[in-house]
Amino acid sequence: MKIMVIGSGGREHAICWTLAKSPSVTEIVCVPGNGGTAAESKCRNLDPAACAYLDGVSGTDIYPAIARHEGCTMAVVGPEDPLAAGVADELWNAGVPTVGPKSKGAALEASKDVAKQFMHAHRVACATSETFTDAEAARAYIKTHGAPIVVKADGLAAGKGVVVAATEADALNAVDEFMGKETLGAAGKKLVIEEYLQGVEISVLAAVSVTPESAKAGKACIVPFVTARDHKRLLDGAKGPNTGGMGAVAPVSDVTPEQMSAFDERILKPTLAGMIAENMDYRGFIFFGLMLTADGPKLLEYNVRLGDPETQAVLPLMDFDFAELCRAITNGTLKDFPCTWKPGFVCAPVAVSGGYPHAYKKGLPLRVTEKAKNAPDVKIFIAGAKTAENDGTGLVTSGGRVLAVSAYGETFEQARRAAYETMAGITFTDMFFRTDIGLPGAAESGAL
Ligand code: AMP
Ligand code: GLY
Repeated sequence: MKIMVIGSGGREHAICWTLAKSPSVTEIVCVPGNGGTAAESKCRNLDPAACAYLDGVSGTDIYPAIARHEGCTMAVVGPEDPLAAGVADELWNAGVPTVGPKSKGAALEASKDVAKQFMHAHRVACATSETFTDAEAARAYIKTHGAPIVVKADGLAAGKGVVVAATEADALNAVDEFMGKETLGAAGKKLVIEEYLQGVEISVLAAVSVTPESAKAGKACIVPFVTARDHKRLLDGAKGPNTGGMGAVAPVSDVTPEQMSAFDERILKPTLAGMIAENMDYRGFIFFGLMLTADGPKLLEYNVRLGDPETQAVLPLMDFDFAELCRAITNGTLKDFPCTWKPGFVCAPVAVSGGYPHAYKKGLPLRVTEKAKNAPDVKIFIAGAKTAENDGTGLVTSGGRVLAVSAYGETFEQARRAAYETMAGITFTDMFFRTDIGLPGAAESGAL
């Protein structure tokens, strides 16, 4: 099987690396990929701008054209943007089985309003909320409910669309920014304003195979993976500005079986029932962003894809063939697929460019010692680095989040030690990373 993987981050490097382990995978074409996927076995990057056969083809139309030209018989979509733009619909129409929901399902991430309407309609445990298109009505709601309160821009905003407001003034200011000054453009024209939830956050990634046909046959299902936790703040102790993710761990050891069964009953099952009731064709991954509150787990958000950097911590724990899982998602046999997980833990801290999440330099050579390159049970997943001529790794930085070091251990402490020992063997100018990934006090707690 020849597979097209869409995306260019650390998540996509982990996806390609895991797919390449499958005996049934002959080649992976990563579009556009990065310096990590370029060097992975069975994997080849494809730059659409450098493809003569794509002349005159634009937007998401390039993907069916690439699949056809390259002979790919499956596609795995990494990020949310192409899914929201309908890439899965187009690929299926072109006869390419695709891992990633069609646009109706993708709206569960692309629109916070659609997501909340879905949650409320199908009684998924979540924060109470209301949606506003009128700034005056939004302000009145904030004044009635008081702070703390959470203001969310409806559309995709690359993590900049949520304000957890400690005071009424902050919440009113967010309304002015999003609706008045249109700081996020169209994404902020509609707002969801919701109840503030306190607790610790976890992520549950899951495989989904729902179509009207599989629902009729009793085969529609959502299969959760091991739990994971991202660390979004820049600095140790969950301080500093929000980022795309400074590191992840899996599984999370402070989640109780009671919390997981409450998640199953009050979030996962109603989500599945909702997808079936709404006739969705959702064959892909879903990411449940949860707040573990005193009142049980509540759903903060759906992402319609695997999380980044959670994927870099979860995929190394798979004790099954990932390519076959993807096949089962697309052909309706997921319910019978044996998902078994390795015992043990992964700790995956992320190294970022100095200055990130604000301005940072690019093009800095990455150096990795032989010991770090060959550390057992450790994998370096590249995110923002590209291939370049140099005397070291042949890689230079090209993004804010540069790489994740994913280390496996029988205990969490072994995984953590291995990850940071390898991190110590990696250098680039102004490199920065958190030193507390997975430690108590490192997780986002939702506290203001
Ligand atoms: P979202 O994109 O909706 O997941 O929101 C981004 C982040 O904002 C989450 O990871 C939480 O840390 C925080 N957040 C979102 N909604 C709430 C809420 N209702 N209460 C407290 N914190 C929230
Ligand atoms: N780790 C959070 C996300 O992928 O959006």
